Amino acid sequence: PTLAVIVVAAGSGTRLNGGAPKAFVGLDERSILHHALRGVFAAPPAQVVVVVPDSLRGDALTDARDAAGDRAELITVVAGGATRQESVAAGLSALWADVETVLVHDAARALTPPAVFDRVIGALEAGAAAVIPAVPVVDTIKRVDGGGRVVAAVDRSELAAAQTPQGFRRDVLEAALAAADADHTDDAALVAAAGHDVVTVEGDAVAFKITTVPDLERARALVGAAPS
Ligand code: CTP
Ligand code: MG
Repeated sequence: PTLAVIVVAAGSGTRLNGGAPKAFVGLDERSILHHALRGVFAAPPAQVVVVVPDSLRGDALTDARDAAGDRAELITVVAGGATRQESVAAGLSALWADVETVLVHDAARALTPPAVFDRVIGALEAGAAAVIPAVPVVDTIKRVDGGGRVVAAVDRSELAAAQTPQGFRRDVLEAALAAADADHTDDAALVAAAGHDVVTVEGDAVAFKITTVPDLERARALVGAAPS
């Protein structure tokens, strides 16, 4: 099935506070967005939609063309919205007519290995309508009340942390977005709310989301240590 990847990169990066919208902050001489796109183009997709702040569409196109090499014609750049979900919707509206399956990927997960893309695509090809990469939760988790008091322990063995790229049949994701009555922090939550089964494949610790300054430092160290 014809595959598109929507890379959401339209967030402002409030928690990172890196002097530019997060996807445009540098890891080495390349931006977070550039690194994320290198993983995306390894997939390999038939279309790549990059969703960015309106004012940075030109910069994004330059970055994306550079990461795409000889496949620059696959790139579409669109302006995002106020929430991640709105940015995903903007990306979906730019899909070519023949696209049947869609991966939605956070630019902030810049170092996601190609093997994670492969596992998600493999599950879609095996017939799943919705698939997410997930990793075990390593911390002990507590349920707390508004006053910060521990209410209950939560059995960690029942939990998994969701990563991206998340993969969907296009019709399933479009219908779930059209029916959405609330904002969800990921696409799988939206599709699950619409009544679909979501399967998991193994994620990867290196697919962590660059959210805070220590995350950025970790990503920079990994990029600097990587063999070229
Ligand atoms: N995102 C987006 N549009 C938004 C909000 C988020 O495209 N309106 C994207 C971000 O660019 C990021 C991914 O969704 O690649 C995950 O979001 P998050 O890590 O929360 O990034 P930000 O929203 O930019 O960061 P913060 O929440 O700290 O402001
Ligand atoms: Mg955010």
